[in-house]
Amino acid sequence: MDGTNHMRIMGIVGSPRRGGNTEILVDEILAGAAEAGAGTEKIILNELNILSCQACDGCKDGGKCVQEDDMSELLEKMERCRIWVLGTPVYWWGPSAQLKAFIDRWYGANQAIFKGRTIILAIPLGSGNKKTAQHVVGMFNDIADYLGMNIAATVLALGAHKLGAVGKHASVLTNARQAGKQAVDRASWVQE
Ligand SMILES: Cc1cc2nc3c(=O)[nH]c(=O)nc-3n(C[C@H](O)[C@H](O)[C@H](O)COP(=O)(O)O)c2cc1C
Repeated sequence: MDGTNHMRIMGIVGSPRRGGNTEILVDEILAGAAEAGAGTEKIILNELNILSCQACDGCKDGGKCVQEDDMSELLEKMERCRIWVLGTPVYWWGPSAQLKAFIDRWYGANQAIFKGRTIILAIPLGSGNKKTAQHVVGMFNDIADYLGMNIAATVLALGAHKLGAVGKHASVLTNARQAGKQAVDRASWVQE
């Protein structure tokens, strides 16, 4: 994988709302990572064609997913990035449909790309109660454990309902920026 000077981080936005709270958090994390010297890249899941897993096990039989869409190119890009920012709003106590379809497709991916990967979570929600995000956070914790990924930080933005509301929460923005910066600083010291 790339060394310090070529450290790359990818922001993955799971909200369909451009300029929304998820994108703002992801942007802020990427800005912190850029301050620490990382190259950044961002993708909006809603603007890609990512079909849902059909549970056909074609990936297990043929070594490749049967779906012909943007997922294989996205996985190749992700593989080149040492850190992934996974952003989703809370929708009905869970992640967005776009984020979930994307995660389901990890089933057919080469599992080696996940092991040892650093991820940062970015999760806005309308509720002011942290418990409302428990299933989304729990889902990511269990997936990370299962796949051997390391969650560097979980940035929650409570009480963020309206478009861009999180932009007015200075402390959340600071947390997000620091999460990006610290993850890059830490990853720079860890040998692959
Ligand atoms: C379909 C839908 C379901 C939602 N469900 C919840 C929910 O269960 N709990 C909650 O606190 N907020 C819920 N919200 C509010 C969003 O989590 C909140 O507005 C978030 O900031 C949206 O992020 P975005 O601006 O990136 O789209 C929901 C919003 C939508 C559109």
